Amino acid sequence: MPAVGGIATGGKEYPGNLTPFVTVTCVVAAMGGLIFGYDIGISGGVTTMDSFLRKFFPSVYRKKMADTTTNQYCKYDSQKLTMFTSSLYLAALVASIVASTVTRKFGRRPSMLFGGILFCAGAIINGAAKAVWMLILGRMLLGFGIGFANQSVPLYLSEMAPYKYRGALNIGFQLSITIGILVANILNYFFAKIKGGWGWRLSLGGAMVPALIITIGALVLPDTPNSMIERGQSHEAREKLRRIRGIDDVEEEFQDLVAASEESKKVENPWRNLLQRKYRPHLTMAVLIPFFQQFTGINVIMFYAPVLFETIGFKSDASLMSSVITGCVNVAATLVSIYGVDKWGRRFLFLEGGTQMLICQVVVTAAIGAKFGVDGTPGDLPKWYAIVVVLFICIYVAGFAWSWGPLGWLVPSEIFPLEIRSAAQSINVSVNMIFTFLIAQVFLNMLCHLKFGLFLFFAFFVLVMSVFIYFFLPETKGIPIEEMGQVWKTHWYWSRYVAEEDFQYPGFEMGKNGPAVKEV
Ligand code: BGC
Repeated sequence: MPAVGGIATGGKEYPGNLTPFVTVTCVVAAMGGLIFGYDIGISGGVTTMDSFLRKFFPSVYRKKMADTTTNQYCKYDSQKLTMFTSSLYLAALVASIVASTVTRKFGRRPSMLFGGILFCAGAIINGAAKAVWMLILGRMLLGFGIGFANQSVPLYLSEMAPYKYRGALNIGFQLSITIGILVANILNYFFAKIKGGWGWRLSLGGAMVPALIITIGALVLPDTPNSMIERGQSHEAREKLRRIRGIDDVEEEFQDLVAASEESKKVENPWRNLLQRKYRPHLTMAVLIPFFQQFTGINVIMFYAPVLFETIGFKSDASLMSSVITGCVNVAATLVSIYGVDKWGRRFLFLEGGTQMLICQVVVTAAIGAKFGVDGTPGDLPKWYAIVVVLFICIYVAGFAWSWGPLGWLVPSEIFPLEIRSAAQSINVSVNMIFTFLIAQVFLNMLCHLKFGLFLFFAFFVLVMSVFIYFFLPETKGIPIEEMGQVWKTHWYWSRYVAEEDFQYPGFEMGKNGPAVKEV
């Protein structure tokens, strides 16, 4: 009887290796995450550069230059400035819906290529911007690019990766997001120092580099065998699979890909399918996990760390430096999650990370509240105070980076059964983009009105989401995807939606003590 533990292929062990071919292919494809991350990291820094504000947002600049005894909470509150940051996510939301059709009908590669080209165009327009409308137009093009890339790249990676490495590669995508953010933070730090005040052009135009990499990558990368089968190129798909796995005997995996494709063709309307009662747990997670991920408040730090640090009394240079520090913590803590996710489990990371974030949010609220009060007048800020605030923000970022960051993408992708996978994943991406947009759009205004209470607002959500995970998310560590249905059937709450006969896959039957593989 074949072993089951940790195998994600219906109990089968497909032969094949992590070939150099597939490794290079996946590294190139993961550059899609770099594009996304670069963008998250670049806008906050640019919006603290004086020359940039003077040119495009003079009223914000004048407010910023005003006496520091005026209300610090509101000095960056400008609808136009927020539109600059958040327009991208609205565009990405629209594009990810369109991209799902392109990806399905024409393959993953054309979507990536399209994404790279749009992103490149956006970077050029932004780097050369002479007026606010050029900035917004550029941001929208970048957003379209990201929508296409984020829709196709994770799919591409999962389909290319040998199943044993799929989990690690999934968090690899998040790792490249965090590296993108860090690179952007570092570049902002140096470009802000350029005499003549045109450094922001390099920051914004610099997005061309990851864009060119993904564009060229998409031209040279092979399409996935899954996608080729889906588009009727079975013969080429078998050859491609041999090349990817580095062996001749790929028949078993190939036949399963064909069967999976046949199965999913039977589903006429995956969207309507999703509304069936047995998919209630999946639908709930597809909506709530990305919603909660954004309501950790992480993007307040990612987009606005420099603005935030300036608000609490740092000089411009020190603010950019602090965001480089949080960027490093973000990357390092993601590595912790790659190491621990299959050892300690998803629930442990979610709950530990949630507790850590909650404590930090309360401490930061108290620290800012004590010094700034409700009128936003800090007086003299001692150095130790600044160090404590940055320290707790770093511990908060670490908590996110090994929990809700990677798991917000990993868990949804591993719980959806094949017949609803693409539709449910689209919902996951769209909900993420909507709330990324919303937080980016209202944050500066919230800071102005909620003042230091802003952090308590997010702390409340972190508490709610941790309770939710505790009661409603079953552990998915080490469970083959085809057996995932079992976690709902044995769950105290979800068992009322999922019946024993649901999610039965050929080749499997459930043993008394958990999953067992039917002998063949
Ligand atoms: C989130 C982004 C966030 C990033 C931070 C991602 O998982 O989706 O919104 O900015 O993590 O590292």
